[in-house]
Amino acid sequence: MKKALLHKLAFLLILLFPASLVLAEFQRAENGMVSSRSDIASEVGKNILEQGGNAIDAAVAVGFALAVVYPSAGNIGGGGFMVIRTADGQVYTQDAREKAPLTASRDMFLDSDGELDRQLSRSSLQATGVPGSVAGLLDALERFGTMSREQVLAPAIQLAETGIVLNEDIAGQFQRNLRTFQQYPASLEVFSNNGEAYQAGDLWQQPDLAATLTLISAFGRDGFYKGPVADMLVTSMQANNGLISHSDLESYEPVWREPVHGVYRGYDIWSMPAPSSGGVLLVQMLNMLEAYNLTEIGWGSAETVHLMVEAQRRAYADRAEYLGDPDFYNVPSAMLTSKLYARQRFADFDPEAASLSDDIGAGSWPQESTQTTHYSIIDTEGNAVAVTTTLNSTYGNKFVVPGAGFLLNNEMDDFSSKPNTANGSGLLGGVANEIQPSKRMLSSMTPTIVTQNDNVFLVTGSPGGSTIINTVLQVVINTIDHHMNVEDAVNSPRFHHQWQPDIIRYEADAITDQTVAELRAMGHQGISRSRFPLGDANSIMLIDNVLEGVSDPRNVGGVAGF
Ligand code: DON
Repeated sequence: MKKALLHKLAFLLILLFPASLVLAEFQRAENGMVSSRSDIASEVGKNILEQGGNAIDAAVAVGFALAVVYPSAGNIGGGGFMVIRTADGQVYTQDAREKAPLTASRDMFLDSDGELDRQLSRSSLQATGVPGSVAGLLDALERFGTMSREQVLAPAIQLAETGIVLNEDIAGQFQRNLRTFQQYPASLEVFSNNGEAYQAGDLWQQPDLAATLTLISAFGRDGFYKGPVADMLVTSMQANNGLISHSDLESYEPVWREPVHGVYRGYDIWSMPAPSSGGVLLVQMLNMLEAYNLTEIGWGSAETVHLMVEAQRRAYADRAEYLGDPDFYNVPSAMLTSKLYARQRFADFDPEAASLSDDIGAGSWPQESTQTTHYSIIDTEGNAVAVTTTLNSTYGNKFVVPGAGFLLNNEMDDFSSKPNTANGSGLLGGVANEIQPSKRMLSSMTPTIVTQNDNVFLVTGSPGGSTIINTVLQVVINTIDHHMNVEDAVNSPRFHHQWQPDIIRYEADAITDQTVAELRAMGHQGISRSRFPLGDANSIMLIDNVLEGVSDPRNVGGVAGF
C-alpha cells in the first residue's frame, strides 16, 4: 500500500521535475535565476525564488537538492564554500570546508617506508574529513535566509522519497562506477538496481537519505551531527579504521571569513579566502595580467597564452609554498593579492621565452575526471550567491553510510600528506598544508562574484580540482577583456598550467597548431590536448538589468530563470 502511494507520488513528482526536462543551456530572465549541474536542482531553486525566497534560501534548497539528484558531488557528507553578496552591497564568505579529525596526524598516510599510501589517502574511511555541508547550509539559512528549514529542505526530501527518473547522464555515472560501489553493501544498495546497473528511465529512490534529510529538517544541525545519523556515521568509522568521532561531529562549525577582494580594470573581484587557494590565486593572476592589454593582444594568441601561463606558473608555485588553513598557518594573503607583489613577482616575465618551473617533485595529472560542482544564483532583489561544493573525488570515497544513505568525502587527500609529493590533483605542498588535527585541507574551489559600480556583473565558479582557479580566471578575462557575453565566456575552450608539472594542457581549439608552434619556440614544454574537459562553470551575468545564465555545455546541467 505504502509502495503504491510512493509510486503515485513519484509520477506526480516526475510531472513536476521530469529528469528528461531539458532546460536551455543559455537563458535570459528578469527576476531570478539559478544555474547548476542539474536541471532538477535549478528548477528547485527557481521555485523557491518564485515563492518569494531570496537567493540564500534558494542556494540552501539547491544544495540539499544536489545531494539527492547529483550525488557524485552534491552532498551532505562533504563540504563547500559560499560567497554571498547581499543587495546592500556587503559580501560574505562562508567556509564549510571539511576538517581533519581530532586524531589525525601529519604522517597518517605514509607507509613504513615513508611513502604516500594513495589508496589510504583517497579511497579509505581515513580519507574522510569531518563533513561541513549541513552545518554550512543551515547557518547560511539562519543568517541570511527568509524561509524556514522545513521549506527549503522539502524539495530535497521529496526528491529522495518519491524518486527521480534517471536520465542518461546519471544512469551512465552509476554504471561506470558500479565496480567501485560493489566494495560497500550500502553503496551498492543505493547506486544499483539490486546489484544490476541502473538504466536511463529507471525510477531511483533513496529512502535512507530521505530519512536523514527529514531528521535535519526536524532538528537542524543536531539531526546530522548528533543522534542516529551521527551514530551511524561513527559506527561506520569504527568498523573501517576511520577516525571521525562524536566529538569531531559535535564540534564542527562553519567559519565566516573576510572575502578576498581585488580590483581588475575597475571591476571588483570577490572570492573565497584560505583555506581555499582560489580567491588569492585568482586575484594574484589578474594583478599580474592587468599591466597587459589582453583585449588588443587577442584571445588565444600565443602572446596571450604565454602571458597567462606565466602568471599561472608563478601563482601555483606560491600556492604550494604559502597556502593552507589560516587558523593554523600564517597565510600571507595580503601580500599575495597586492598589486606591488604582483609587479615584483612578474618582473622576470620574458615576453619572448618561457620560464622553467623548478624540476623538483613534479606531480602527475589526475587520471580520471573527478567531481565537484558549482552553482550560481541571483534573485529579484539583487542578492547573489556563488557556491562550490565537493566530496573531492567523484562520489567521494564511494562509501555510503549504512542506514543514513549519504556518501562520505575523501577530502583528506587535499592535504599535503608528504612534502613535494603530488596529491590526486597533481598538486604539491609543504608545511602550510600539512595534516594537523582539526585543520582544514587546502582547496582550489573558487566561487566568485564580480561587481561593477556596486552592481553584480558576474557570478561564477567551477569544479575541476587544480584547474578550477584557471577556469574562473578565463571566464573573468573573457568577460572583462574580451567583452564576451556569459555564454561565449563559458563556452570558450580553456587551457591550464599549474607550475608543476611544467606542462600546458588545453581543450580543442583553445590553442591552435600555429599558437602551439609559437609557444614551443618560446620554450614552453609539454603542450598537450587535455583528455578531459576543463571545468564546468555554471554562471550568471547581469547586463542592463537582464539576467543571462549559462550551464556549461561541457556537462549536462540546467539554467532556470523567470
Ligand atoms: O577542494 C578542492 O580543491 C578539491 N577537493 C576539488 C576537487 C574537484 O574539483 C574535483 N572535480 N572535478
